[in-house]
Amino acid sequence: MKMLVCGKGGSGKSTLTALLAQHYGQKGKTVMVVDTDESNLGLHRFLGVNHPTDLMDQMGGKLELMGKMKSAMNSSEGMMNLKLFDQEWRLQDIPPACIAENGNVKLLSIGKIHHAGEGCACPMGFVAKQFLKNLKLSDNEMVIIDTEAGLEHFGRGIEEGADAVLMVLDPSYESILLAKKAADMTASLNLPMYFVLNKITPEISNQMRKNLPADKIIGEIPMNQNLLSAGLTGKDIASSAQSIMPIIQTIISGINSS
Ligand SMILES: Nc1ncnc2c1ncn2[C@@H]1O[C@H](COP(=O)(O)OP(=O)(O)O)[C@@H](O)[C@H]1O
Ligand SMILES: [Mg+2]
Repeated sequence: MKMLVCGKGGSGKSTLTALLAQHYGQKGKTVMVVDTDESNLGLHRFLGVNHPTDLMDQMGGKLELMGKMKSAMNSSEGMMNLKLFDQEWRLQDIPPACIAENGNVKLLSIGKIHHAGEGCACPMGFVAKQFLKNLKLSDNEMVIIDTEAGLEHFGRGIEEGADAVLMVLDPSYESILLAKKAADMTASLNLPMYFVLNKITPEISNQMRKNLPADKIIGEIPMNQNLLSAGLTGKDIASSAQSIMPIIQTIISGINSS
């Protein structure tokens, strides 16, 4: 399964990604976390690994990809025919330099912004979409996609490479609005979508639930001191979040049962 994690900035996407990866890894699955957020610099720390070589850099870098995209746009066939991968990839086909590994959990990063004024993030979105669509998994493998804040990834079509969407909502009006919009978008794509409420107290949960469809909410993660301090210090989340694992199990059961 390829599961895409989305939500507003700071809602807890990378935190949930790392918790899910840790959980699946502990259950014996091979987990590939795919970082598609070009601005997010700390996910590797949550996973307890060094940052690997970005896939886009391995493929020639942003400028080269922009060149290919421009020539495709100017050609009679257009962008639809620009294929970055000429055959299916399995996890083992990914260049080793692009993978950082911690036990069963691996990290692949599509690309990061390195310099001011280097141009828009379209090539990264393009690589992410094609990579995910092209990647074939076997039964014991799992992909978790950490996305950038907001809804931009919908515009880039990254969801087309996913089997399910998990939206993280922090206690904010913005999250509620985003959730409604994202639910409409996933419905139009025929993609299952689930909500996880994060940084929650019982009172906040009651208030948020008044504005959300109950059947889509598959878990609630409370405000947690260990998660907060892992985020503050850039520490491996997994080692400090064992108390959250039963909640992560509930979230996974919610996905599997629907
Ligand atoms: N349940 C939680 N309790 C306390 N802090 C949390 C919780 N979830 C996330 N955080 C903290 O919130 C901040 C933003 O989380 P992060 O996962 O980086 O968000 P995103 O990837 O959506 O931008 C981090 O410092 C993280 O440690
Ligand atoms: Mg993040």
